[in-house]
Amino acid sequence: MSTTRFREAYGPYALVAGGSDGLGAAFAEAIARRGLNVVLLARQEDRLNATAARLREAYGVDVVAVATDVADYESVKARIGALDVSIGLLIYNAAYAPIGRFEDTGADELARAADVNVRAPLLLAKLLSAPMIERGRGGIVLMSSLAGSQGSPNIATYAATKSFNAILAEGLWGELKPRGVDVLACMAGAILTPGYEQAGGDKPAPGTLEARQVAERTLNALGKGPIFVPGALNKVARFVLMRLISRRAAIAIMSKNTGGLS
Ligand SMILES: NC(=O)c1ccc[n+]([C@@H]2O[C@H](COP(=O)([O-])OP(=O)(O)OC[C@H]3O[C@@H](n4cnc5c(N)ncnc54)[C@H](OP(=O)(O)O)[C@@H]3O)[C@@H](O)[C@H]2O)c1
Repeated sequence: MSTTRFREAYGPYALVAGGSDGLGAAFAEAIARRGLNVVLLARQEDRLNATAARLREAYGVDVVAVATDVADYESVKARIGALDVSIGLLIYNAAYAPIGRFEDTGADELARAADVNVRAPLLLAKLLSAPMIERGRGGIVLMSSLAGSQGSPNIATYAATKSFNAILAEGLWGELKPRGVDVLACMAGAILTPGYEQAGGDKPAPGTLEARQVAERTLNALGKGPIFVPGALNKVARFVLMRLISRRAAIAIMSKNTGGLS
């Protein structure tokens, strides 16, 4: 899609929830490069302001920084409402991943995963899709994960929340496509981000992609279908896990990959 067409379809502002670092910052940059103004949302103000300044300087677009925790939906709603800008594209990138055995994970961590990974994208999609439907155009990208294709021991809750996002995107795609609004879940494999490095991959897993590659390819896939898996190896992995082998075998394979995370 040309940058002019992208601006017409998804402008004038995009909201990137979780947009100051890693994949979120790569999304914000790819969007600014296409000429959209950006609302960046993240918790840590210094890094948020630094990313906003860098994008303003590089692309000459308006970049508004909103420092808040996306888990606090009421605050997010009020802060976005106060901006009085028209948001034609939502990228929901923020996530919380409690790692470890379910029996060792606190109820507060589980609730936080539900707030950040399920409640916030659901309510933001509801909030922002209403004016998109009215305008007859817009886009919503929900970051999911290959981990959401099947049960994943050691990250069971995170994987289940990512599955929620993929299924939600499929349903919304079916409902909103005829209304002019594109919805997409990106089911990514490993991405080189600070979050991934912190989760303890000693060396990148096969098929690991750069954040910039995932952001560009995901935006290019928007409007073409409800689910996008970036990377050839990851596409094959999803096909094998979902179609060729039993659920039991898929869980066992995931267990080998995720069992070592800490
Ligand atoms: N990295 C991977 O290998 C991988 C693989 C598959 C799928 N994914 C998905 O891709 C997305 C990006 O994952 P990532 O870990 O690599 O992160 P990332 O893109 O590096 O993003 C983290 C960003 O989100 C912000 N953020 C995190 N929690 C937030 C909160 N509660 N409220 C507001 N902002 C918040 C962070 O800023 P602050 O800390 O300042 O808030 C930062 O800007 C996630 O949805 C993840 O599930 C990642």
